Amino acid sequence: MITRDQTLSLVNKYVQTNNSIKHMLATEAIMRSLAKHFNEDEEVWGLSGLLHDLDMEIVDYHLDPALHGVKTVEILKSEDIPQIVFDAILAHNEATGKSRNELIEKCIYSTDPITGLIVASALIRPERNLASLEVKSILKKFKNKQFAAGANRDIIMSCSEFKMELDDFIALSLKAMQSISDDLGL
Ligand SMILES: [Fe+2]
Repeated sequence: MITRDQTLSLVNKYVQTNNSIKHMLATEAIMRSLAKHFNEDEEVWGLSGLLHDLDMEIVDYHLDPALHGVKTVEILKSEDIPQIVFDAILAHNEATGKSRNELIEKCIYSTDPITGLIVASALIRPERNLASLEVKSILKKFKNKQFAAGANRDIIMSCSEFKMELDDFIALSLKAMQSISDDLGL
């Protein structure tokens, strides 16, 4: 399987925007924690998180929503990457038509939008960091639909598909992102 260093080189090759790279790193960290939680393969799950938005600066989401994810798989097809990672990348974008069957597919779908909610919740703290952020304050922000409106609440709530309560999912995600706070600059 492709190494993490090789994967990071690919990310840096295709994605220029710093915030996008941070989003992919955050998704990786949460997917790793979820893998640990479910006794699954952390490397494989982390890989799917780190790569899931690789085509974000190539595909126009608004013009061609169904291509987001499909293009990433096309870019990566000659790399040593397990099929389940490709399936997860396709499944994170509902517009591809890929259904969520496997646990990893359900998890990446729900993880994608929670990173944005947590970052936005951290940035409005006086300390502007993750260390001072608590689960209850993220939950409060979750309920305010105007706050970080881009973080789709229904998709985050789909954590029920992998039998996790929202507050547990938020707690796991916050902890995972706190563990890479230097990388995230938060
Ligand atoms: Fe994403």
